[in-house]
Amino acid sequence: MDAKPIITAIRTILDSKESITDKLYKLCQYLEQNISHYDWVGFYFANQSKKTLHLGPYAGDPTDHKIIPFGKGICGQVAETNNTFLVDDVKAQDNYIACSIHVKSEIVVPLFVNGENIGQIDIDSHTRNAFTARDQDLLSKINQKISSRLKADQVDLKSLWI
Ligand code: SME
Repeated sequence: MDAKPIITAIRTILDSKESITDKLYKLCQYLEQNISHYDWVGFYFANQSKKTLHLGPYAGDPTDHKIIPFGKGICGQVAETNNTFLVDDVKAQDNYIACSIHVKSEIVVPLFVNGENIGQIDIDSHTRNAFTARDQDLLSKINQKISSRLKADQVDLKSLWI
C-alpha cells in the first residue's frame, strides 16, 4: 500500500466543489475500492449532549448500527478514550458490535476538530490481522485533512449526522 497516491486522491476529493456529505461518501468509496483489505469504510459523528455516535457516509454493506452509545463497541470506546483502536481479531473482543459475520478485523481512528473528538473513521476487513501502524498513519493523515476541510468550510457538524 503506497500512501502517497492515496493521499493525493483524497485531497482531490476534499477540494472538489461538492457538498461535504458527497465528498465523504466519495472518500469512503475510494478507500473501499482501492485498498484491498478495506471491506467497509464509514464515518460516525458524535452527539456530545446525548453521548451517542451517529452513522455518517459509508461504503460497503448496509449496517443496522446507525446510533451507537459512547462506550459501546469499538466505536463507542474510541469516542471515550480518544485513541485509535486496532483490532486484530474481533472475536477476541468482549465489547464489540458485529455488523456482519464476514468481518474479522477492524480499525477505528478518531477525528479531531480544534482538539475535540467529533467522530471517527471506521474500517472493517474480512481478513484477520489486516491492519497495521501503516493504516493508522494513513487514516490519521486523512482525518487531519478532513478536519482542515471541516474548519475551512465552517461545516455545522450536526449536518453530518444521519
Ligand atoms: N464494529 C463496530 C460497529 C460499527 S460496524 O463495524 C459498521 C463496533 O464494534 O463499534
